[in-house]
Amino acid sequence: FVHCFSVSLNIALCILQVSGFSWKNCGQLDDPAVLKTLSVSPDPISIPGDLTASASGSTSVELSAPLALNVTLEKEVAGFWVKVPCLEEVGSCHYQDACDILNQLIPPGQDCPEPLHTYGLPCRCPFKAGSYSLPQSDFYLPNVDLPYWLTNGNYRVQGVLGSQGKELGCLELTLSIHSD
Ligand SMILES: *[C@@H]1O[C@H](CO)[C@@H](O)[C@H](O)[C@H]1NC(C)=O
Repeated sequence: FVHCFSVSLNIALCILQVSGFSWKNCGQLDDPAVLKTLSVSPDPISIPGDLTASASGSTSVELSAPLALNVTLEKEVAGFWVKVPCLEEVGSCHYQDACDILNQLIPPGQDCPEPLHTYGLPCRCPFKAGSYSLPQSDFYLPNVDLPYWLTNGNYRVQGVLGSQGKELGCLELTLSIHSD
């Protein structure tokens, strides 16, 4: 399904478009961790391509390991939201410790990636209680190997963060994926 064209004899470039991005907090009113603002542009976003984003949020408690993360990914099929199962750690998965995943992506001791580093924002646990803000920043989204089941359509993804059986925060994202 992914639209690809060859740029040389053995290199193919595939472009994915993400449109209609929206977000909301989906937890209880008294959840300690909330996202306050999130804006991304352009619409549609091309992958690979450039993305501009800004965000702010806060947590009233320190977020430290182990941080349970439950992700629910749904796809709209004939007007209904259908849950996508967890396949190879992608989809509707339960992660025991999101801190551990961050440590694998950005090994401790290494600087946080830009633009987090410039703004002194943390990228690993613990995240101290307080407010965090990322001013408008540009990112380059590289070409990614997509799971084979990711086809054109509307998607909804919900992430619930918890610790010691208590919900800390809940974020829901909605977007459409398209590729010619
Ligand atoms: C994740 O799901 C499991 C199983 O339904 C549940 O026991 C756990 O409390 C959930 N954790 C969070 C953070 O929602």
